Amino acid sequence: MTAMVGTPTLTIGRLVLRAPGQNDTDRIMALIRDEAVVQWLARVPWPYRRSDAETWVAGAVDGAAKGDEYAFAIDKGGLIGIVGLRDVRTAPELGYWLGRAWWGQGIMTEAVGAVLAFAFDALGLSRISSGVFKGNDASLAIQRKFGFMEIGESDFPSLYHDRTLRHIDTRLSESAYRSHQS
Ligand SMILES: CC(C)(COP(=O)(O)OP(=O)(O)OC[C@H]1O[C@@H](n2cnc3c(N)ncnc32)[C@H](O)[C@@H]1OP(=O)(O)O)[C@@H](O)C(=O)NCCC(=O)NCCS
Repeated sequence: MTAMVGTPTLTIGRLVLRAPGQNDTDRIMALIRDEAVVQWLARVPWPYRRSDAETWVAGAVDGAAKGDEYAFAIDKGGLIGIVGLRDVRTAPELGYWLGRAWWGQGIMTEAVGAVLAFAFDALGLSRISSGVFKGNDASLAIQRKFGFMEIGESDFPSLYHDRTLRHIDTRLSESAYRSHQS
């Protein structure tokens, strides 16, 4: 892997992917305080407080400084969602969410495509893990488009549901990613 410290700005079509900052906390709170979004996310606390947004942004800034996390604000005239890679140095994992008003326009497909290109081309990662809670077919459809394979199921804790849920575990190798591109 190529060490890169700090989150670059990626421009793709109608979107800019950029590092999030504390100026984004109001927007994050407004969009993520939505049960239709949070019900599918493992690590987002509920009820969601301002301090949760501030802590998340601080963690993203710290992770970027260490080169271990690349969280991108999806910006289309302001933040509309987040896509990112965590644990980049040990077990890279992709995660994302989009404000409900922007669903169904292909935005997350574009954003995930840009982050995967960054991960494999710029960082030189060899594989990325992800997954979905069972029933999240829109998210699974996005992952399949890029060649993610379903490798099993697990019980994964959800802060929102306050229990574990069945989770479809997925993984994308660089070679599967490349063969889906061609
Ligand atoms: C999942 C989420 C990121 C999708 O974002 P989006 O921008 O609407 O997604 P896109 O439009 O790029 O692509 C969605 C794909 O799923 C498909 N899809 C949508 N609903 C579907 C369903 N119920 N079953 C199967 N496929 C579905 C769409 O047709 C589209 O595929 P296509 O481009 O081939 O038509 C968004 O709904 C979201 O943030 N949900 C809540 C948080 C979340 O689930 N995060 C991911 C956790 S793993």
